[in-house]
Amino acid sequence: MSSSKKSDSTLKTIRISDPFTDQKPGTSGLRKSSKHFEQLHYLESFVEAIFQTLQGVKGGTLVLGGDGRYGNERAIDVILKMGSAHGLKNVITTTKGILSTPAASNLIRSRKAIGGIILSASHNPGGLNGDFGIKVNGSNGGPTPESFTNAVYEYSKNLTKYKIIDTPSIPLSDTGHFSVGDMTVEVIDGVEDYLSLMERIFDFDQIQNLLRNNFGIVFDAMHAVTGPYAKKLLEEVLGSPKGSVRNAVPLQDFGGGHPDPNLTYASELAELLLIDKNYDFGAACDGDGDRNMILGKGCFVNPSDSLAVLTANAGLVPAYANGLTGVARSMPTSAAVDVVARQLGIDCFETPTGWKFFGNLLDANRISICGEESFGTGSNHIREKDGLWAVLFWLQILAERRCSVKEIMQEHWQRFGRNYYSRHDYEAIDIDKANTLYNRLERLLPSLNGQQFAGQRVTFADNFRYDDPIDGSTTEKQGLRILLESNSRVIVRLSGTGTQGATLRIYLERYVPPNENLNHDPQQALSDLISEINSLAEVQRITGMNTPTVIT
Ligand code: G1P
Ligand code: ZN
Repeated sequence: MSSSKKSDSTLKTIRISDPFTDQKPGTSGLRKSSKHFEQLHYLESFVEAIFQTLQGVKGGTLVLGGDGRYGNERAIDVILKMGSAHGLKNVITTTKGILSTPAASNLIRSRKAIGGIILSASHNPGGLNGDFGIKVNGSNGGPTPESFTNAVYEYSKNLTKYKIIDTPSIPLSDTGHFSVGDMTVEVIDGVEDYLSLMERIFDFDQIQNLLRNNFGIVFDAMHAVTGPYAKKLLEEVLGSPKGSVRNAVPLQDFGGGHPDPNLTYASELAELLLIDKNYDFGAACDGDGDRNMILGKGCFVNPSDSLAVLTANAGLVPAYANGLTGVARSMPTSAAVDVVARQLGIDCFETPTGWKFFGNLLDANRISICGEESFGTGSNHIREKDGLWAVLFWLQILAERRCSVKEIMQEHWQRFGRNYYSRHDYEAIDIDKANTLYNRLERLLPSLNGQQFAGQRVTFADNFRYDDPIDGSTTEKQGLRILLESNSRVIVRLSGTGTQGATLRIYLERYVPPNENLNHDPQQALSDLISEINSLAEVQRITGMNTPTVIT
């Protein structure tokens, strides 16, 4: 059912005395506290800079939606009125403004939009005391490149006015067609298009067969955007028992939680699988639905391992049954997928942290699947990582192989060897202290070459630099690497997405071939690397922290 309404509107130019001169938005868009976004004209100023920078606004179609956090619907209202003032022809948005990042990427591509504006601070907490964010994706459905964010920032520095129309707000309560000034707005159900995309990738009958036959599954939507998607997909279409999707209603503050699917923030789910062991399969996604965590009965699947397993089993999924063109992982992600790629005889690319670096490789069809250690996996079906896609991929593997997640992991390691892996995060540390630690370690790197580190020889130590094989661009200083003989590594980076102080990330990896002990606890298997880097980088002394905030 659609309704249509013509509204009187007046174009207004609002003058502002102080242009906002925040620091540059990061690669994940602009992320700030919700209160920061509530400053007079702040949101509007950023949106003006976006509309002045984005190509094709006049007469173009834009996709708009978010993860439902506090500020989502207000931002949609403002963006619609400003988009109209800037001459957009059409906006596709969703009921209640609920649109996951992967679903947005899909809509941008399928509706041939000039791009999309996604309202989310991803896995950061929401609510009045949480964070809000705005991210712009380009016409390929992927995150815009740094040149775009730089241009938006430059524009914002001298901005003294913005354009908006004065018109009643449209309701987002139901689907329908509306007018905002001369611009049309289609309010759609954000789940539908995504569902049919998934149907084209996977064999739904086979997954149905698994889920309808006594398979214990629990999915935690963390009160975030994937709730309605998972309810529809898992419970209604694929037939998992009612209630298997938990925390399914998106809440403005995510129920006070931290919508990041890892063992710390999704601890309730972890307990169900790892301690109570009541279910065969468990999964969770983050605030905007692009991240995923996979658990089996008594078994946590490390995201780097998950990428390797998906690659090794891609032939079981209809969309990839003809083989993969190649794979890619971010530099700090473990090399488990490299081992699989080598056996499959396909390319494996190593890119800097951040999904945007996969875009060129995907567009050029050099890779089919890619992923990051930070609970992100995806493929050429869109240009973002995709949490529920990864969940369905795992279910397809389980439906075909009819064994436990634990058995899949055991068999994988027995075949390819195991890349013991862990990430230690030190969150909210003083920015100066973090820089001191990082710069000091960077200066030490040249002296490490050929030296002993945790009983192994350092083969190489540098600050990672990426030469994009498609467009020839170079990205420098992407993280400190200490590479050791026998494929062990330690990486040290500073996060680019935090909103409070700095976050130090230490990534640890040790490769063990198939014939050795594959069942150590990772922290134990990595303990010598952990103590060596802690003392070399003087982590405790400089940060004043004795243990990491999050261990993955
Ligand atoms: C983090 C993750 C990175 C991911 C990004 C956006 O960035 O580590 O892999 O692409 O979030 O989800 P970081 O905070 O490390 O810069
Ligand atoms: Zn996210």
